[in-house]
Amino acid sequence: MDTKLISQEAHALATPLLTVFAVDIAASKDTATLPTLLTANSAINKAAAAVLNSGEFKAASCETILLHAPDGLKAERLLIVGLGKAGKLTAHEARKGAGAAVRFAKPRTIRELAIALPEAAALSDAPIGSLPAQLTARAIVEGAYVGDFDPDTYRSDRKDLSIQTLTVLSTAKASSHEGKEAQTGVSEGIIFGTSQNFTRTLVNEPGNVLTPTVLGARAKAELEPLGVKIEVYSTDKLHELKMGSFWGVAKGSAEPPALIVMTYEPEKATSSEVIGLVGKGITFDTGGISLKSADGMEKMKYDMAGAAAMIGAMRAIVQLRPTVKVISIVCSAENMPSGTAYKPGDVLTAMSGKTIEIINTDAEGRLVLADGLAYARQLGVTRIIDAATLTGACVVALGMLNAGLFANDEEACQHFISGTQLSGENFWRLPCTDDYRDLIKSGIADIMNTGGRWGGAITAAMFLKEFVEDTPWVHLDIAGCAWIEEQKPWIAKGPSGIAVRSIVEWVRSYQ
Ligand code: BES
Ligand code: MN
Ligand code: ZN
Repeated sequence: MDTKLISQEAHALATPLLTVFAVDIAASKDTATLPTLLTANSAINKAAAAVLNSGEFKAASCETILLHAPDGLKAERLLIVGLGKAGKLTAHEARKGAGAAVRFAKPRTIRELAIALPEAAALSDAPIGSLPAQLTARAIVEGAYVGDFDPDTYRSDRKDLSIQTLTVLSTAKASSHEGKEAQTGVSEGIIFGTSQNFTRTLVNEPGNVLTPTVLGARAKAELEPLGVKIEVYSTDKLHELKMGSFWGVAKGSAEPPALIVMTYEPEKATSSEVIGLVGKGITFDTGGISLKSADGMEKMKYDMAGAAAMIGAMRAIVQLRPTVKVISIVCSAENMPSGTAYKPGDVLTAMSGKTIEIINTDAEGRLVLADGLAYARQLGVTRIIDAATLTGACVVALGMLNAGLFANDEEACQHFISGTQLSGENFWRLPCTDDYRDLIKSGIADIMNTGGRWGGAITAAMFLKEFVEDTPWVHLDIAGCAWIEEQKPWIAKGPSGIAVRSIVEWVRSYQ
């Protein structure tokens, strides 16, 4: 998507589709106050007056209304997108609104669009939420890119309807402070949006195409030219590092595992921190000998979404160039039942030396991560974040609107939560205090790989915690949020790319 920011009055722009935002300024349900456009442009306000006065459009979040041949405008069409209540306005609302505009345009084969940056000043009287210039410009571009993604690449009758040109309009002069902030926001938005979509492309791939080896090759092809140092190891390296836990899972498949190690080195580090990103990369999870039921098993191709999030995050990091070193480790394998597969009752020895009694071979994610976390520590990381489609229990607990957040360190957790205010992603913290530790004690080994019926997301986190030891750590269980079951106005059904933006913010918070 060719994207540019221009400083121009929106009514004077010739474009197939001009998008402006509107908000609901009614003080309560009973007051019939009409919505207000987030632009002070008088030609646009005049062109929209009749439809706004009709009361047909309430400016609810992602609500749209279209005008053809708007009077006094050079645009062929004017699209008004609602951002909900003025008082609750956030940059994230604008992100969704931009996505909704793109998803409005695509099925209508409109491949060029312009979006006017919201002017909060247009609302001088109404109480308004917060729309900082840089973050808002960034969010709008991210939203447009995320909205542009459709997971239909395997349809033979596919028509490419992707948006070719996105013009972001600012009323601020390019040389002004606000104009510069908008430009930085647009540039960052492109990086975040394309990186999140790269993650989604990987997650969308079927298991027969995206094997661990192919995941490594795709990561390398994308990241190496951008300046990330990347090594893709396999079976021999697992043995050399004594990754008995990771290998336990990998050995059941005819497809060799991939241990992907990515390093971003800043030109000038401003701290001695080394940030570790660890991702679960199960390219297909059958459950292994503890076989899953057939119902919905096809979805388990997305069990590498944590790995894909880390690869996407590294893609953004190398372009945003934070002044902190980052090492990312992806542990990728297929979880298969076979004559060489690991079995319930087996005891594995992890890289850290801890022994693990296998209760259920479907609890494989924590096993590959155990060795990934230990290896990250051996490589010298001072803080770790991991992301994994780890447990169905997390989906039971939080549904699909919040991903699980766990941490062994308050400061690291607070850094992460602050970052989500910028990323607009929803995480909800669950406990992983030591009183849960007894649930994973084993009779014959150090720990078991499952913790019984209750609190499954927590016992999975407790298992990982054994391998991060005293390193400050944040764990994201994205099982419920990595795949969108039903399309939303701003995003297609399918892989979401959850966590990429929040992980990058977390990394940036340490520069
Ligand atoms: N990949 C699954 C978790 C999962 C479940 C992700 C549903 C997305 C949707 C994971 O490997 C798994 O199978 N976990 C088991 C753990 C259990 C055996 C302790 C689960 O959640 O049932
Ligand atoms: Mn599993
Ligand atoms: Zn799994």
